[in-house]
Amino acid sequence: MRNRLGLTRRNFLLSAAAFAASTSARAAPRAATDSFVPDVDIELICRRDAVQIFDGRPTQVWRYAGNLLKGPANTLTALPQSYLGPLMRFVKGQKIRLRLRNDLPEETITHWHGLHVPMEADGHPMAAIDPGQTYVYEFEMRNRASFNFYHPHTHEATATQVYHGLAGGIIVEDEEERALGLPSGEFEIPIVLQDRSFDDDNQLGYWGGMHRNMFGFYGERILVNGRPDFRLEVASRAYRLRILNASNARIYKLCWDDRTPLTVIGVDGGLLERPETRPYVMLAPAERVDLWVDFSGRAVGSKLVMRSGEFDGLVPPMAQRMMGGGLTIGDDYPLFAATVTRAMSDSPKLPEKLATIRHYRVEEIANRDSPRPIALSMSHMQLAINGRTYEHDNVMDIERVPVNSVQLFEIFHDHGGGMGMGMGGGMMRGGMMGGGMMGGMGHGMMGGGMGMMGMMDMAHPVHLHGQPFEVLSRTYTGEDEEAYATIREGLIDSGLKDTVLVAPGERVRIAKPFGDFKGRFMYHCHNLEHEDMGMMREFSVE
Ligand code: C2O
Ligand code: CU
Ligand code: CU
Repeated sequence: MRNRLGLTRRNFLLSAAAFAASTSARAAPRAATDSFVPDVDIELICRRDAVQIFDGRPTQVWRYAGNLLKGPANTLTALPQSYLGPLMRFVKGQKIRLRLRNDLPEETITHWHGLHVPMEADGHPMAAIDPGQTYVYEFEMRNRASFNFYHPHTHEATATQVYHGLAGGIIVEDEEERALGLPSGEFEIPIVLQDRSFDDDNQLGYWGGMHRNMFGFYGERILVNGRPDFRLEVASRAYRLRILNASNARIYKLCWDDRTPLTVIGVDGGLLERPETRPYVMLAPAERVDLWVDFSGRAVGSKLVMRSGEFDGLVPPMAQRMMGGGLTIGDDYPLFAATVTRAMSDSPKLPEKLATIRHYRVEEIANRDSPRPIALSMSHMQLAINGRTYEHDNVMDIERVPVNSVQLFEIFHDHGGGMGMGMGGGMMRGGMMGGGMMGGMGHGMMGGGMGMMGMMDMAHPVHLHGQPFEVLSRTYTGEDEEAYATIREGLIDSGLKDTVLVAPGERVRIAKPFGDFKGRFMYHCHNLEHEDMGMMREFSVE
């Protein structure tokens, strides 16, 4: 459990000292304030535990355990027999206090992914607390109805801490959504997708060394809500499945085995304006999708299987073959099954209109003519954003943002020549890979050793903390149209997002608001191994 990515901690210690000097957050964990009167008060403990996942020996995990000290009785729901943290249910406008206690053998801090909260409540890595300490978060729920994700954000240890079990879901409700009468109660089901590897003794294995750090961890088994044998028993009526990809690196291509199209009603930042039908949906780490699934008219005993379908082009071909053990990346494999076990005649109808989203007008975007870059690069064991790896207090000018502004960003893959990549990547791309091997000659040709591998391109799920953003455009200028055709229809850019998958060859423009709160807010790749390798930066909102 203690294995770290092979990085030096020197920079971290230096900057931790700087952070402590400037904010004192590192010196003393944040305590509760008397003036804050919470509607909901929760104690959340990070601790070691053992969970019966398979027959035989229980699996040692790290997990969140919750106690509701104050608030509505439905605020916390434990997932049965799962290492996942309790599902939290909040209502827009609630004042929330979360007391995070660290009973782990190492430092930790928790981030509420998707929530729009002040810096002190955002789980900045510099706010990490030592074993035995408690950090108190206090904030008002400003989010619209949505499904969010809480997980550690510990410096260079996010991947291992999440992997060993620290993760959970947060449902936010509001009036606008309630008025729709969407399926609720037992008909609204959270689905948390993860992949894990186990040794012969049922213990988690975080294998893979250097390749794992470079491409991310890919487990050999799919767990849904922490269970290896997850199955839904449903009635013949409409359901709402709220799916979260809480895997470290694995990207899913969600589809039904009988090719029933998916009806998408929401994404990361809540409901879409109207439902959309897709043959499949790509779901990268930290992304969420809200599905309307109607089992009406299906016979009792019939079964529908959700699978991850075949795709190409998101990781270098050699990594695609090498990683993932029995669950090769981009292969077709089952995720879970839903069996109709009882007939029901009354079912809610899918609303034609779901929500109102106020789109940004061009005039509202501060830098409409000169987008700020988020340049993603990968070479020689070096993962970078705008040519730099994470370091605290190392804010570039392009990362300084005025509070209460809307900013235009362009996210793209940086292939050398530009910032910080140097010769290697550029030559590689122009020479050997420029349409020969990647495109024409097909996959499976890239034998290659480490030198070559380090320069190849892969998809990155890019996440920006704080308020969700709007995807304005997505263009593909890559050379492998055939591979791209296996994913393109599954990318949902309507609605509000906080994590966007940027495939090799793509350029994505987003309009991102920075409302209400000044301070330091992270943005990073949500492939957790990439994040821990330093593919992370921070904004200074001023
Ligand atoms: Cu879900 Cu900064 O992360
Ligand atoms: Cu986040
Ligand atoms: Cu990445």
